[in-house]
Amino acid sequence: MLGHAPTTATSNRLHGTRSGVLFTPTKLGSLELKNRIVMAPMTRAMSAQGIPGENVAHYYRRRAEAGVGLIISEGSFIPHWSASHEENAPRFYGDDALAGWNRVIDEVHAAGGRMFPQLWHVGLVRKPQVEGASGLFDEDAEASRRLGPSGIIGGGGLPLAQVRAPATEREIGEIIEAYGNAAASAKQLGFDGVEIHGAHGYLIDQFLWAETNKRSDQYGGDRTKRSRFGVEVIQEIRRRVGWEFPVTLRLSTWKNQSYAASLATTPSEWAEIVTPFVTAGVDGFHLSQRRFWEGAFGTELNLAGWTKKLTGKPTITVGSVTLNNSMAEMLQGKDSEPEDNLALVYSALERGDFDLVAVGRALLANPDWPEKIRKGATLRSYTRSMLTNLD
Ligand SMILES: Cc1cc2nc3c(=O)[nH]c(=O)nc-3n(C[C@H](O)[C@H](O)[C@H](O)COP(=O)(O)O)c2cc1C
Repeated sequence: MLGHAPTTATSNRLHGTRSGVLFTPTKLGSLELKNRIVMAPMTRAMSAQGIPGENVAHYYRRRAEAGVGLIISEGSFIPHWSASHEENAPRFYGDDALAGWNRVIDEVHAAGGRMFPQLWHVGLVRKPQVEGASGLFDEDAEASRRLGPSGIIGGGGLPLAQVRAPATEREIGEIIEAYGNAAASAKQLGFDGVEIHGAHGYLIDQFLWAETNKRSDQYGGDRTKRSRFGVEVIQEIRRRVGWEFPVTLRLSTWKNQSYAASLATTPSEWAEIVTPFVTAGVDGFHLSQRRFWEGAFGTELNLAGWTKKLTGKPTITVGSVTLNNSMAEMLQGKDSEPEDNLALVYSALERGDFDLVAVGRALLANPDWPEKIRKGATLRSYTRSMLTNLD
């Protein structure tokens, strides 16, 4: 652990005294950021037919106005029929959706913010009932309706099920191209970079994980070989946007369907996965944990700390910052109370364990989170109803 985990919530009032380190500038690739505060990507399915409207632009603008250094958008689907999970989550393709994103980035920039879209392909966990990418639908592929490395879902203690044939090389090539197209659109619209969603059991993670990747071609095998798909995604993005445009990769060792699942149990195993991404051109990593203070691989250093140590790249940590329970407890229906665990964040930033701190639910509850932290003001509690109330 990064220090002693907080155990009790004593007060909603936070101590602003040591917050200075959070407000120091830093860099992600070529991008200068005014502080260390990142808005975590959070899907809320508030973009009807995949088009982010004025309300979405307003929602992000509010966080930029309050001083968030870098906003990562909710997951946004790449232009491939198999990518989409939810018809009211935003697409990152099509004139209508891109016009919506254009408004979002203009508003965020007008408020002095910086923003990356998070590019997302859900892989085999795609809900089969969702129509998804209209206009890009492939009638032949419609029969099986989802794509992944080996056609296998489950794992991590859950039964494995073969739901379709392994993705063909042609299908893999199309998806890689789609990531490149989405990144090129982001650059064209004026976004400050892109984040690739490689965490939580979605497509890139399905390739990384031995339980769902049984391929015997160049995309399967040991950890480094299982990274190849993600590496080719990054290479294609670099080919399309050049080397100056910032690219981050979000990874987790766990999956939505199994928190016990792990991609690696030692730092050297983790290095086999992450180092190929550095060569491919990633500027930084975003390491998803439910509780940021928990150490990885049986050590005190968390996953963002290890990833920075192993790759030399800037890293973003996340997980229950200023909250008394994790996202998992939220999914069980529990609301969260504010908790002052910032002393651990400040110490880790001062030591240089990681460079940036992403805040999720606390930023939904408190659009002005950075200002409140600076002033040591009282935070609002996070309730599940905030998910459907775009504020
Ligand atoms: C409603 C909701 C939607 C989320 N959607 C995404 C997403 O689209 N992409 C992603 O990488 N993580 C997603 N996450 C995970 C968050 O980015 C973050 O890692 C998690 O909420 C932990 O941070 P927190 O404890 O500060 O909320 C989501 C979390 C929540 C609560």
